[in-house]
Amino acid sequence: MVERIPSPPIKDVSGGNVIELGREKNMDDKTNLHENGSTNGNIVKIGIIGVGGWGKNHSRVLHDFGVLTSICDMDKTKAKDMGTRYNVNYYGSMDDMINSESLDACLVCTPTKTHYPVSKKLMEKGINVFVEKPLSYLSKECEEMIQIAKKNKVSLTCGYIERFNPAVQDVKKILSEKIYGELLMIEFHRENRMPLHIKDVGIIYDTAVHDIDTAIYLFGTDPQVVFARAGKIFHSFEDFSNIMLGFGKDRVAVISSNWITPKKVRNFSAVCTDAIINGDFIRQEITIEDSLSTTTPRRVNLVEPLSLELRNFLEVIEGKRDRTEVTPEEATNVTKIAEAALLSSNTGAPIYLNLG
Ligand SMILES: NC(=O)c1ccc[n+]([C@@H]2O[C@H](COP(=O)([O-])OP(=O)(O)OC[C@H]3O[C@@H](n4cnc5c(N)ncnc54)[C@H](O)[C@@H]3O)[C@@H](O)[C@H]2O)c1
Repeated sequence: MVERIPSPPIKDVSGGNVIELGREKNMDDKTNLHENGSTNGNIVKIGIIGVGGWGKNHSRVLHDFGVLTSICDMDKTKAKDMGTRYNVNYYGSMDDMINSESLDACLVCTPTKTHYPVSKKLMEKGINVFVEKPLSYLSKECEEMIQIAKKNKVSLTCGYIERFNPAVQDVKKILSEKIYGELLMIEFHRENRMPLHIKDVGIIYDTAVHDIDTAIYLFGTDPQVVFARAGKIFHSFEDFSNIMLGFGKDRVAVISSNWITPKKVRNFSAVCTDAIINGDFIRQEITIEDSLSTTTPRRVNLVEPLSLELRNFLEVIEGKRDRTEVTPEEATNVTKIAEAALLSSNTGAPIYLNLG
């Protein structure tokens, strides 16, 4: 049964209950945005499919931008709650939503194994798509998604949000300027005891993919070899993993992830020839240790990474940018590496890749 409310004018009904990703956010930051939130004065219409734990945050940011026009969740209570909160149309089925709304774009915030069929349907309707990470479970599906996007002339991107984290941006800048010499290795730790709510994939596809993407971004090239060990203790799929990515010239990234240990840790260390640069994804800051001192550069006016990520997508839809920060080809390579990591952990062998 369709649950739909008549199109109301969009107004601020958000209230509180904001879930924060980062240490600091700037809810009022609408730099370059017109009253309706779009950057060129046209009202862009965006829908969201899936308003569970993470889709709720996307809803809040798109509402703040003034571009959220509809919400869909197969759990009708969630659809109704969020639709009512943001005063937008809500649906229990994506078919009803895309047939009733004229959407410019849609966010897919459903579980990993639904990303392919949901995104395919949207793109075939000519709707631009932002898919939460990973782009899809199988790289074959990712490659098909790229073809479907091209055929239907729509934009396709994926939610590798750490690219927009100030800690990552700062380290990227320092590395590109070679201030502390050559980058030799990066070590990532992403650990937190997790409830059993993620039912379709394990930690490699759900969590380690963030660090796989960040490693590639910081090295500026794809790895040539993957070696991994993974196992499970509480969950139905792997819930701890260690992945080593081998880049050219014997450079490596070591990615340690687990859903077991009780403390929330999300950090990385970039070891360079003249310093170690430590990044904290949660505090969104870096410290630099060289032979003389330890320094913590401070940023002012931090903007929430989710807001930067969605603005980047919005600007592509509006024709203000040629491409999204995260291309579907890059997101496909992350899925290929996740596949290789799982294969390596199952077989005990290194997997050599030619990601091209
Ligand atoms: N970028 C990040 O930091 C980050 C963080 C958390 C989750 N995620 C990603 O977001 C996505 C969702 O994760 P979550 O934790 O919000 O999951 P969740 O289970 O809390 O929410 C998913 C929602 O999708 C709905 N749903 C499922 N299939 C649907 C369909 N076909 N049509 C309509 N609704 C449907 C479910 O009812 C549920 O409400 C995943 O891809 C996950 O990897 C990203």
